[in-house]
Amino acid sequence: TLAMPSFAQDIKVLYDEAELPKFTLPDPLVAQDGTKITTREAWEKIRRPELLQLFETDVYGKAPAAPPIASRVISEREVFGGKATERQVRIFLTGKEDGPYADLILFLPKSDKPVPVVTALNFKGNHSLSDDPTIPLPQGWMRNIAADGIKNHTATEESRGAAKSRWPLERILDRGYAVATAYYGDIDPDFDDDFQNGIHAAFKKEGQAKPAADEWGSIAGWAFGLSRIADYLEQQDAIDHERMIVMGHSRLGKTSLWAGATDTRFDLVISNNSGCGGAALSRRRFGESVRRINTSFPHWFCDNFLKYNDNEDACPVDQHELIALIAPRPVLICSAQEDQWADPHGEFLSGLYADPVYRLLGTDGLAATEMPPLDKLINSRIGYRIRPGKHDVTPSDWEAYLDFADKQLGGK
Ligand code: GCU
Repeated sequence: TLAMPSFAQDIKVLYDEAELPKFTLPDPLVAQDGTKITTREAWEKIRRPELLQLFETDVYGKAPAAPPIASRVISEREVFGGKATERQVRIFLTGKEDGPYADLILFLPKSDKPVPVVTALNFKGNHSLSDDPTIPLPQGWMRNIAADGIKNHTATEESRGAAKSRWPLERILDRGYAVATAYYGDIDPDFDDDFQNGIHAAFKKEGQAKPAADEWGSIAGWAFGLSRIADYLEQQDAIDHERMIVMGHSRLGKTSLWAGATDTRFDLVISNNSGCGGAALSRRRFGESVRRINTSFPHWFCDNFLKYNDNEDACPVDQHELIALIAPRPVLICSAQEDQWADPHGEFLSGLYADPVYRLLGTDGLAATEMPPLDKLINSRIGYRIRPGKHDVTPSDWEAYLDFADKQLGGK
């Protein structure tokens, strides 16, 4: 974990439902001017664009329009005894070969039909997914993790395979899904540097020192990167373009939700342990609060989000409306019992309060009104699961993701 500024440690953390403040959530089906939204058309024409804009200006910040990407295949080979292809592709995020790039690694199961794909950024570099010595180490900034041999913010050979337990690749491929992933730091290094590097610097306007208060923070930057990966995947005949999934864990779970909200090419969205600024309702202030997250990670959201430190009720949106922005596409919210910091109950409630929007659009919503028992996947259009254990991605999480995707995207 990152060192916390000492003043952040002083912010009181609520872990007791009885201590939570009373609050009223904004109604996803009432427009800002008070109009009740009662038809699909009014949702699509009025309320959805309005909510998207509110999340852009007040929470994640607006990303620039994307130029067409450029890409170059770096290598391709067979893996897992010939069951799959591993392709490494450099994606030039600004469309120019002298601009920032993300190195995508795409694992494709052998198939005579296009295959569904799970797109997810990774925390520790593509080389952390397997022991394969040919995968290049990221060249940019990495979080120091002594156990993985990462010192001076630089990846080393020692970190090969460090994230294998989070990526049961062979099993995912055996279930018929491709995996597309890139190191999130290729898109924006995850530290507060006033946006001097990564994707933000590349898109800075003339004379602008840093993004304006309503312009993109790091989460919106990473989501922009996910959309550029989608650009590439859309060009591939081996990929089923109707079954493109975006998944993310933790800060990257916040990111996958925002990517799913802003980019409807993602047909299914999964957030794992995404917590504050992800699936958890901000107004509950349970576990990590808005003030706490803005203090520890000032670069994740746009500067306008600072207005809601200890002032969540003033925010025009809450996170159930982020889930609603994904409607009517399937969304799966996953929690972990020991990850109270991420407020599992608040994550569940976001799904529940997004339900009326899904129903308006003619799908089932969340087929539960109370938290399910541990390990029971609620496999409705809004899905939910809580498993025992801590903040992490486990093989059993992947089984749940793919069970959900099999059902919600129509299986093979
Ligand atoms: C911290 C942070 C969370 C975040 C998590 C992660 O715990 O407070 O908001 O989700 O890091 O990304 O691992």
